[in-house]
Amino acid sequence: MGNRKIRYFIFGAVVMFLFNSIKTQAQNLENGKKIYETRCLVCHQADGGGVPNMNAPLDGSTNVVSSDIGRLVKIIKNGFNERVELDGLYYSNSMTPNPDFTPAQISDVLSFIRTSWSNKASKVTIAQVQVALKGNQKTKTK
Ligand code: HEC
Repeated sequence: MGNRKIRYFIFGAVVMFLFNSIKTQAQNLENGKKIYETRCLVCHQADGGGVPNMNAPLDGSTNVVSSDIGRLVKIIKNGFNERVELDGLYYSNSMTPNPDFTPAQISDVLSFIRTSWSNKASKVTIAQVQVALKGNQKTKTK
């Protein structure tokens, strides 16, 4: 009898855990969308298509869906003004830095752009952002 109660309890705990993790993930993407709309949309546009020759597209960008999370984290935090070739094209505008973003906000907005429009890459965890930011500080204090 006691055993059955314990089993019910464990089953309940597992269900709660799964439910909560699904809820948190949805919340992250929703929050990422809000951040995108207030801080990125003006340049990268609602459809992630950017503006030809000015602002790089995020939809369909090989860099946005790549596994180099560290590069993406640094671009969000420090801005980006390298005028390098991106998927064969160049962009003349400068991306503004976002020094006020917390690791959670960076992970939310990166998860959003990596899973939106035609992009189907993995989400970015807060831990991945923290690792990238550590490297970022080191290169900055040099
Ligand atoms: C002021 C306009 C502007 C804003 C605001 C802006 N970006 Fe950008 N973004 C750019 C430009 C311009 C580039 C390309 C810069 C270059 O080529 O040097 C870029 C590049 C990028 C890249 C690299 C794309 C690639 O293919 O490598 C990512 C990722 C990115 N932006 C994400 C974001 C996110 C997320 C936000 C909001 C937090 C944001 N940007 C806000 C203008 C902007």
